[in-house]
Amino acid sequence: MIKSTVIIFLLVSCQVLLCAVHKTPGNKLLLENLRPNIISRSEWGARRPSSVRNLAEDPAPFVVIHHSDSDSCITQAICQARVRNFQNHHMNNKNWEDIGYNFLVGEDGNIYEGRGWGKHGAHSKPYNSKSIGICMIGNFNNHNPNAAAVKAVRDLIEYGVSLGKIQENYTLLGHRQTTQTTCPGDSLYQLIQTWPHWSSN
Ligand SMILES: *[C@@H]1O[C@H](CO)[C@@H](O)[C@H](O)[C@H]1NC(C)=O
Repeated sequence: MIKSTVIIFLLVSCQVLLCAVHKTPGNKLLLENLRPNIISRSEWGARRPSSVRNLAEDPAPFVVIHHSDSDSCITQAICQARVRNFQNHHMNNKNWEDIGYNFLVGEDGNIYEGRGWGKHGAHSKPYNSKSIGICMIGNFNNHNPNAAAVKAVRDLIEYGVSLGKIQENYTLLGHRQTTQTTCPGDSLYQLIQTWPHWSSN
């Protein structure tokens, strides 16, 4: 008798606890579930941008996919070093305000914050004022990014839509659709054509 009372008590307490968890504001919980891990600028050791501009169209109506046309990376330490190199190159050699992209993704499965949400980029003239530019680290002319990197990009886009930083009816483009370039590589360009929202124009 005592034993079953204890069991019932435990069951009820568990229910109460679970309900309490589920009662936290619905949207917030949903967003938290969708939120992919994003390595922040301070975590990867970003330099300060020389200036910052907001997107002219926010939420962004376009997402543009790039590759870095460099070696890929499968550990956070090496991916972060690559991201720092890109930022140095963009700021020192190209004289840009900051790293060009809004986000970068490595084959370590991590997302690295570039200029971030709502920021004017330097990656795809004339889409810089109305797109989120995402660079997949590696050269994807002859092979696709690994599954971890593909999942990270797709999660990031979905999260951007749920945050209200990317329009729900956004158009997905490859860099080569915005200017004369081979970016994001033949293989990755084929792949993104199978993703939701890709458009041939
Ligand atoms: C996308 O949705 C926005 C508002 O939700 C609307 O203003 C815009 O015209 C739509 N764009 C396209 C291409 O359908």
